[in-house]
Amino acid sequence: MRLRRVMSTIILGIESSCDDTSAAVIRDGVLLSNVISSQAVHESFGGVVPELASRAHQQNIIPVVSEALKRAGVSKKELSAVAFTRGPGLMGSLLVGTSFAKGFSSALGIPMVEVNHLQAHVLAHFIKEAGSEAVPPSFPFLCLLVSGGNSQIIKVSSYRDMEVIGQTIDDAAGEAFDKCAKVMGLPYPGGPVIDRLAKEGNDKAFRFNKPHIAGYNYSFSGLKTSFLYLLRDRMKENPDFIEENKNDLCASLQATIVDILMEKLRKAAQDLGIKEVAVAGGVSANSAVRAAFEEYGTRYGWNVCLPKFSFTTDNAAMVAITGYYKYLDNDFCPVDAAPFARIEL
Ligand code: KG4
Repeated sequence: MRLRRVMSTIILGIESSCDDTSAAVIRDGVLLSNVISSQAVHESFGGVVPELASRAHQQNIIPVVSEALKRAGVSKKELSAVAFTRGPGLMGSLLVGTSFAKGFSSALGIPMVEVNHLQAHVLAHFIKEAGSEAVPPSFPFLCLLVSGGNSQIIKVSSYRDMEVIGQTIDDAAGEAFDKCAKVMGLPYPGGPVIDRLAKEGNDKAFRFNKPHIAGYNYSFSGLKTSFLYLLRDRMKENPDFIEENKNDLCASLQATIVDILMEKLRKAAQDLGIKEVAVAGGVSANSAVRAAFEEYGTRYGWNVCLPKFSFTTDNAAMVAITGYYKYLDNDFCPVDAAPFARIEL
């Protein structure tokens, strides 16, 4: 008897929406490689400088893709499609990944799949890894997407059916971490530094204003102002106030951000009667966010899905898995597709 040869679906994913150049290879939904080159050039500026980001993507993209293919043990000719982040993000950065994907796919004669960066963060939960027993969330589930640019509560009904039911009306949670870190003189990105310093601090040492916003929406600009005013007032009495209270400031700020995030999520989960709850995006690496998910899970009977650390911040594995599901749906994109700096989910 002759066995029919079943072809694998192999997707190359490209991510270049902000300051990480990343390429990943996925075969039949299983991750073979995920290479990320982070751009240290922005650190001294206290934030991402768009022009420098585009230039660094130009420098990094070919070596990063070559390395991803090499680590995966896959040749270009074996690829089924190229998936790339079309937006949202920085226009110059997105143009690098989009142009690369176009050149690569047309040279190889394979389709291109456009990926929404926000959808990719959510679908990072579905990346399979050899030897891992991680179980993805089952549909429908609620996903708290918290990153440097977004804070959203998303109802996920299938791989392609996602509805944003709440979002920030001003700053994102990651932005609140980064901006408050900056006023304390901490390096960029501030989120991971606050997380580390908070471990030695008292999270009840200081109190900050929490927003009163209708529905499931968030707001973080008032918290930022409240934080700034506290520093300003206390430093008038004691110029060393920040230095002497850094750990307590970080712990109290972090606890307030986590409380704001979790309270709306709890309300949404209760109103919609959904107990399958996940978190995604850069801020999902935060230890207090993770602890709060575990705690709420126990308290409210949620099945909680936390992403692996390497899939929390920007990476191409999440682009490749999203591209994989779109490929299975024959959802390809035209050759004249241009990036979008802003797109909704
Ligand atoms: O998802 P991401 O890599 O990029 C965006 O698409 O925005 O998220 C970056 C954000 C930054 O604001 C960074 O400070 C935050 O995620 N972040 C953290 C932690 N790790 C990264 N925030 C709090 N605690 C962390 N451990």
